Amino acid sequence: MKFFGLPLTLLLYMAFLATSCNEQEKSCLLQFLAGILPEDGNTMSWRDGSGTDCCKWEGITCNESGSIIEISLASRSLEGSISPALGKLTGLLRLNLSYNSLSGGLPSELISSGSITVLDVSFNRLSGVLPKPHPSILEQPLQALNISSNLFTGQFPSTLWERTRNPVAINASNNSFNGLMPSSFCISSSSFAVLDFSFNKFSGSIPASLGECSALRVLKAGYNNLSGLLPDELFNATSLEYLSFPSNGLHGLLDDAHIMNIRKLVNLDLGGNTLNGKIPDSIGQLKRLEELRLNNNNMSGELQKINFYKLPNLKALDLLYNNFTGTVPESIYSCVNLIALRLSGNNLHGQVSPGIGNLKSLVFLSLGANNFTNITNTLQVLKNCRNLTFLLIGTNFRADCSLSGEIPLWLSKLQNLEMLFLNRNRLNGPIPAWIKNLNSLFCLDIYSNNLGGELPAALMGVFELPFYIGSFQYRITSTFPKTLDFSDNNLTGVIPQEIDQLKSLEKLNFSFNSLSGEIPQQLSSLTNLQQLDLSSNHLTGAIPLALNNLHFLSQFNVSHNDLEGTIPIGGQLSTFPSSSFDGNPKLCGIMVDKLCGSAEAPPFSVHSTAQTVKRVVFAIAFGVFFGVGVLSDQIVLSRYFG
Ligand SMILES: *[C@@H]1O[C@H](CO)[C@@H](O)[C@H](O)[C@H]1NC(C)=O
Ligand SMILES: *[C@@H]1O[C@H](CO)[C@@H](O)[C@H](O)[C@H]1NC(C)=O
Ligand SMILES: *[C@@H]1O[C@H](CO)[C@@H](O)[C@H](O)[C@H]1NC(C)=O
Ligand SMILES: *[C@@H]1O[C@H](CO)[C@@H](O)[C@H](O)[C@H]1NC(C)=O
Ligand SMILES: *[C@@H]1O[C@H](CO)[C@@H](O)[C@H](O)[C@H]1NC(C)=O
Ligand SMILES: *[C@@H]1O[C@H](CO)[C@@H](O)[C@H](O)[C@H]1NC(C)=O
Ligand SMILES: *[C@@H]1O[C@H](CO)[C@@H](O)[C@H](O)[C@H]1NC(C)=O
Ligand SMILES: *[C@@H]1O[C@H](CO)[C@@H](O)[C@H](O)[C@H]1NC(C)=O
Ligand SMILES: *[C@@H]1O[C@H](CO)[C@@H](O)[C@H](O)[C@H]1NC(C)=O
Ligand SMILES: *[C@@H]1O[C@H](CO)[C@@H](O)[C@H](O)[C@H]1NC(C)=O
Ligand SMILES: *[C@@H]1O[C@H](CO)[C@@H](O)[C@H](O)[C@H]1NC(C)=O
Ligand SMILES: *[C@@H]1O[C@H](CO)[C@@H](O)[C@H](O)[C@H]1NC(C)=O
Repeated sequence: MKFFGLPLTLLLYMAFLATSCNEQEKSCLLQFLAGILPEDGNTMSWRDGSGTDCCKWEGITCNESGSIIEISLASRSLEGSISPALGKLTGLLRLNLSYNSLSGGLPSELISSGSITVLDVSFNRLSGVLPKPHPSILEQPLQALNISSNLFTGQFPSTLWERTRNPVAINASNNSFNGLMPSSFCISSSSFAVLDFSFNKFSGSIPASLGECSALRVLKAGYNNLSGLLPDELFNATSLEYLSFPSNGLHGLLDDAHIMNIRKLVNLDLGGNTLNGKIPDSIGQLKRLEELRLNNNNMSGELQKINFYKLPNLKALDLLYNNFTGTVPESIYSCVNLIALRLSGNNLHGQVSPGIGNLKSLVFLSLGANNFTNITNTLQVLKNCRNLTFLLIGTNFRADCSLSGEIPLWLSKLQNLEMLFLNRNRLNGPIPAWIKNLNSLFCLDIYSNNLGGELPAALMGVFELPFYIGSFQYRITSTFPKTLDFSDNNLTGVIPQEIDQLKSLEKLNFSFNSLSGEIPQQLSSLTNLQQLDLSSNHLTGAIPLALNNLHFLSQFNVSHNDLEGTIPIGGQLSTFPSSSFDGNPKLCGIMVDKLCGSAEAPPFSVHSTAQTVKRVVFAIAFGVFFGVGVLSDQIVLSRYFG
């Protein structure tokens, strides 16, 4: 048998020689495998097949002469560390280990490899400092390095690209790199196209030498600790399409002439810095512009000077919290592709033109905290914007032409509406029953208006809002305390017992209304409650003993009502100061330093809440204070253009 078998094996071996991997390369793979967990992961066809041709192993690609050229093992739940042995694969061109849970450092053998052109280890848990290439490496073939979303620390080695032939892209975002931003990028080569350093801890100024990167299309370094000016030289990088430095400490002006240099710009994001000076008119020359964000700076100037007629591609304009003045230019309404428009927190005045009705793609509109007039009428034309999902027009109270009248009926046609901020205006009339038909609505902020009167009990349905449908709502609700704020209106009637449906509520504020009747016992079911404010109403009866069960309560106020009887002691209520109870002459107990007489009221009321009393029905409001409103503004917008 052996006599005939041997030559046959030999023959087969020779026939496959061209495509099978060599033993040395296989041993490198096995060394890599030895450092990887779990034992029974997807790759582990390798373990079973250790006797077979490794070119056929999952994720391995060889060239025609059996040399490994690609390893592609993204999203395989790999744990453990990356073996330096992979650096010995002299034909390896592409290595993709992204979306695993690999830890430890990135072996310097991979950075110093004489063959690897694309190295993607993004979305792992790699840590430590990024190794420098070995000094003996004369020419580095690396073109793309994606180390984003790991745990790398220390300085980014500036020598990394000094000996590269044709670098293209680095994504180092979402790590913990510190020190100065690397500066030597385009000294030996100008071919960088993509540099992403956002979400790190870089400090110091933006390196002027980036201006030498004549092929640079994408430059992002937002969410760092960068300071100083935007260097003049930067605007020599005339290929820039994406310039993004949000949330740093940059200051200074945006120069009109500089902006003209980078005419290919599609996306400019300088929000969350301390830039000042006028908004450059030349922004109106950036014909390709799709997103412009200058929010949260100290910029000023008249928006009228920008010619928006030349920006037909504009999709998002965010100027939140600056000091822009003048009226909204009519030309803005020619940007029919606008999806998000945020002008709140400026000093704009005048009327919002009915032209706003042209913006049929508009999803997000935020105009609050300005000095607009006649906004009630002009907003009527928004009824054509059927995709409107977020309407934030709170706090136009500065002028005496704030949003007035009843909550407009056309809003009931906006089937996608999720958030509606109408706080601090002069709305009157009832909270409309149709609100319960807005199936997507989960946030209605209406505090400080003149809303009042009686509402249909059916509105209670609004409490079954889809808080947890979709990840977005989850994000919102996990970010915000769930708050019901109807304070400072003109609501009458009793607090309905159905309040116990709001189980997850964290803040409840009914202060400064004309509510009457007793504090319902059912409030004690809202066990997540942290703040409860019922002050300045006409509430009567005793404070329910069961409120002592609200163990998370840290703020409590029932002052200025007509409550009576003993303040329950020995529980959560004993932790609040006397000011929480002031202005209720008939209350007694240790808390208000007043002895209870013999005609002491029972600790909680036994009368039933009169069925005859009109019920106040109320809608949901998240965001107690304007500041929280703006936070929601921020989160919502980043969902669309993050
Ligand atoms: C396969 O890759 C090796 C290592 O880079 C190289 O020497 C060989 O020429 C390549 N073979 C073919 C057919 O491209
Ligand atoms: C690596 O694999 C992931 C997941 O398949 C993919 O998204 C990514 O583009 C790949 N990286 C490169 C550089 O091709
Ligand atoms: C990593 O970055 C490279 C280059 O920009 C890119 O091609 C690749 O798709 C990125 N990987 C992932 C997982 O996004
Ligand atoms: C860099 O990677 C992150 C994920 O880690 C991704 O969100 C980002 O878009 C990438 N940057 C570029 C310019 O592709
Ligand atoms: C940053 O990395 C973490 C961990 O991989 C990831 O969950 C998160 O989404 C990343 N953030 C960004 C902005 O890419
Ligand atoms: C941010 O940078 C400044 C100098 O520009 C430095 O004083 C400060 O310590 C840095 N902060 C952090 C958190 O790195
Ligand atoms: C780069 O920008 C600086 C400052 O704006 C300017 O003086 C210089 O001439 C520019 N260099 C080139 C090559 O355009
Ligand atoms: C806003 O601009 C006006 C006039 O341009 C100026 O008077 C005012 O002081 C500025 N306000 C702030 C907060 O910078
Ligand atoms: C409204 O939204 C839908 C779904 O997102 C989209 O298909 C449609 O084009 C939008 N309408 C306009 C006028 O933008
Ligand atoms: C208010 O707006 C309406 C509709 O846009 C307009 O007809 C009316 O003239 C405006 N009122 C004033 C005082 O300008
Ligand atoms: C708002 O505009 C009115 C006139 O329309 C003016 O009297 C008032 O001073 C302005 N308020 C602010 C804060 O600019
Ligand atoms: C509050 O409502 C009552 C009637 O319920 C009404 O008489 C009163 O004018 C309203 N107050 C305000 C400020 O609207």
